[in-house]
Amino acid sequence: MNRREFALTIAGSVASGALGTQSLGRITSWRAAPAVPRVDGARLNRHLAELSRFGANPQGGVTRLAYSDVDRAAREYVLGLMRDAKLTPTIDAAGNIIASRPGRDAARKPILFGSHIDSVPEGGNYDGNVGSLAAIEVAQSLGEQGVTTRHPLQVVVWQNEEGGLYGSRAVSGQLRPEELGNISRSGKQISDGIAFIGGNSSELTTVRRNKGDIAGYLELHIEQGGTLERDHADIGIVEGIVGIKQWEVTVTGFANHAGTTPMDQRHDALLAAARFVDAVNRTVTSIPGRQVGTVGRIQAFPGAPNVIPGQVICTLELRDLDESKIDSLFTSISAKATRIGGDTGTTFAFRMLHENVPAPSDPRVRALIADSARELGLTTKVMPSGAGHDAQAIATLGPMGMIFIPSVAGISHAPKEFSKPEDIVNGANVLMETLLKLDAVDWT
Ligand code: GLV
Ligand code: MN
Ligand code: MN
Repeated sequence: MNRREFALTIAGSVASGALGTQSLGRITSWRAAPAVPRVDGARLNRHLAELSRFGANPQGGVTRLAYSDVDRAAREYVLGLMRDAKLTPTIDAAGNIIASRPGRDAARKPILFGSHIDSVPEGGNYDGNVGSLAAIEVAQSLGEQGVTTRHPLQVVVWQNEEGGLYGSRAVSGQLRPEELGNISRSGKQISDGIAFIGGNSSELTTVRRNKGDIAGYLELHIEQGGTLERDHADIGIVEGIVGIKQWEVTVTGFANHAGTTPMDQRHDALLAAARFVDAVNRTVTSIPGRQVGTVGRIQAFPGAPNVIPGQVICTLELRDLDESKIDSLFTSISAKATRIGGDTGTTFAFRMLHENVPAPSDPRVRALIADSARELGLTTKVMPSGAGHDAQAIATLGPMGMIFIPSVAGISHAPKEFSKPEDIVNGANVLMETLLKLDAVDWT
């Protein structure tokens, strides 16, 4: 049996509940170190299954939109897990759940780790949930196995990640006050949503942290793409997270009778929007690179078969690791929109919804993740993240690292999203090991 097979055997035993704490000596036999803490994989996977009931939909995934009733109920469930894990959870003014575990040296800056539990509409059970519950599991296992870190620990469940990293951007100071007026996918204004989950948006300055206020941030997440599976790698080490800019696009034409208005006298906002969708795709694919552009939501008004649409509201989203590329794509797309407006007798207006800045991970944390995975007998691949994560906001405050585990068939943001229990356990153990290594270093 090679090291990787051994690690998977251990992980599988943990996942099936066959390996108790008393068996940990078997793991130490292949490591030079004294007894090493490991997560309780069976408990972690059980908690994941329990969390998936909040917002479960008939397709097998979840719809747990930020600030919805099921989001609030799921957060209550998570608060219970944190208390069971002997953590002390609080809800900050932005609505983030932050659960603390003291370290040996209270003067040290805290190490933060966690993820989110809100979902996209008709999303999956693993996006955010794996990292959130693994963080709680790591903290609980450390306690049960008698490990106290030097740094205080803070397990964080960020609020409204899917809507645009609202919780983490409040903490990093990137949330603009006017964004509190945006309407979230659950229909609530952001400020009302924050109140609904126990925060208070008029006190957001209290959650603000500055560069150097944290000793580090770690996030475990599913890859959400197919690279790790294709390359037979157990663990992804994220080198950087794409920047994301989103706009609301309003196309204004003139609503008129669909039977009596000749084709050459129309100001059809939906026709203009259709050309716009095509122009976005052509522009983004006209240059080499990994940049992506999407029109993901579109609505025509008044929305009747016999009325020419007078207005369309849609979204535009652009992503790349290089912010200047996003900006130049946007310049080109808006110039094309102006031309389409001229051709169709319509006008285009763009309102920025939010922006997530691109973020490289810290190379020193990447090395700690690589060492941890290697010690666990797991193979790794260094890769970019095409998905946005709270880690990119928190990267502005201190050294950040992200750990990916494979997504089966690369499916995510969909009910068929799936990661194998043994990969989840591997990821949680890499998180724990990396956390302990990060705790041991003194970086200035
Ligand atoms: C978050 O999941 C995103 O990439 O949109
Ligand atoms: Mn996520
Ligand atoms: Mn997501």
